[in-house]
Amino acid sequence: MSFIVAIDGPAAAGKGTVSKAVAAHFGFAHLDTGLLYRVVGRAALAKIGPSLDPERVIALSTEVSADDLDRNDLRTAAVAQAASKVAAIPEVRENLVTFQRDFAQRAGGAVLDGRDIGTVICPDADVKLFVTASAERRAERRFKELEQRGEDTSYDTVLADVIARDKRDSERDVAPLIAAADAILLDTSDLSIDEAVAQAIAAIHAKR
Ligand code: CDP
Repeated sequence: MSFIVAIDGPAAAGKGTVSKAVAAHFGFAHLDTGLLYRVVGRAALAKIGPSLDPERVIALSTEVSADDLDRNDLRTAAVAQAASKVAAIPEVRENLVTFQRDFAQRAGGAVLDGRDIGTVICPDADVKLFVTASAERRAERRFKELEQRGEDTSYDTVLADVIARDKRDSERDVAPLIAAADAILLDTSDLSIDEAVAQAIAAIHAKR
């Protein structure tokens, strides 16, 4: 029987960390749906270039496969920005729906994290969490992550990127970033990873 946990929230809020820990705790499969948009964004940058011509981006979005999610070049700041641009194209989003819904239905339970899981992809999810934090805290965390990956950047650049992406993700017409009405809010600004994970696990236990 399926059990679906939808985890949404803005860039670098800690969705990935919380989702992985929740999946490990309950033995659920985990899909980071941001990777799907990053795959399309990366391919668009490489094959189309900065114009990101929508017709060609839409064609690329039909070719995404599970194997692409393992690429090691999806976590750069440039790919994140491209991802949020291609994610505003309605046909791109439509082309990625089936993959996500199929994943959600797998027996044994699934955690999906993204921007529109609780609102569009799995509106009937068993548990919905909206994980957020202040833009400054999110930028600090993302800056450390990118630095560790060897990317040459600054805190100010990362903060500007996070704010630009939040704005684009929240203001787009299709599937904008917004908490579902029945989502549980988890603000991780002043929480350690362990505290955030413990709260998420408690919220899921309460619904099981
Ligand atoms: O890891 P981070 O939170 O920085 O980003 P991500 O989850 O990898 O998502 C990258 C971009 O993909 C976001 O800025 C969104 O524009 C888009 N996205 C989306 O539109 N819908 C989703 N379900 C997941 C990601």
